[in-house]
Amino acid sequence: MSKANLYLSLVGRYPIITDQMTAKRLLVILREMERVIVDRDIEGEIVEFGCYSGTTSLFMERLLQAHNSNNKLLYVYDSFEGLPDKSIKDASVAGTAFKAGELKATKRQLIKNFKQAGLRLPVIHKGWFSDLKESDMPSTIAFGLLDGDFYDSIMDSLKLVWPRLAPNGSIVVDDYDKSNLPGVTRALNDFFKNQNVRIRHEHDLAIIRNNLR
Ligand SMILES: C[S@@+](CC[C@H](N)C(=O)[O-])C[C@H]1O[C@@H](n2cnc3c(N)ncnc32)[C@H](O)[C@@H]1O
Repeated sequence: MSKANLYLSLVGRYPIITDQMTAKRLLVILREMERVIVDRDIEGEIVEFGCYSGTTSLFMERLLQAHNSNNKLLYVYDSFEGLPDKSIKDASVAGTAFKAGELKATKRQLIKNFKQAGLRLPVIHKGWFSDLKESDMPSTIAFGLLDGDFYDSIMDSLKLVWPRLAPNGSIVVDDYDKSNLPGVTRALNDFFKNQNVRIRHEHDLAIIRNNLR
């Protein structure tokens, strides 16, 4: 197999450990990450906002290892208290689906999953995205996965990640254009309003490449 497209061999070889990710979405996320770290050799670190117990971050670390990109670090962020309260911008026909405290994983579980997989541990930050400080963030980001589900969570993570995104780096946002989580799309539309940024849409994911800087 060529050096590019290694991501294809990871999905299928390793289990997807929770119902929070599908093979189709994982393939898009890893393809985009591989484009950034291998094809374009973009400087900066890898981040995931909303890592839960590591379903996707395990694969992101595997991809780094598959490409011997150990100079890049994976940073993961989560409250480890589950989802926060919804705002009015998250109101949807799905009504009471997704409540505060749902999707709670512990930091210990995340670490256990990485250790069981024999993987290097990521840099882990426990807390609400809105409370993160400058020092909690890498100075330059090559690739980011944003998976916070709600309007404020996506908006807060965009504010942290977009200004640090390297030229030609990219971010993928989960749950784009999904009627049961409308806050995700609203946050993206509000954040990128009046900016000449293209949002691609693939399998419930938004892909945004930083071609501006
Ligand atoms: C859908 S899950 C993420 C799934 C994960 N990406 C995976 O692949 O397994 C959403 C996660 O985001 C976290 N989260 C949502 N909003 C947050 C916020 N504002 N601050 C910190 N964590 C948040 C929740 O605790 C939860 O673990």
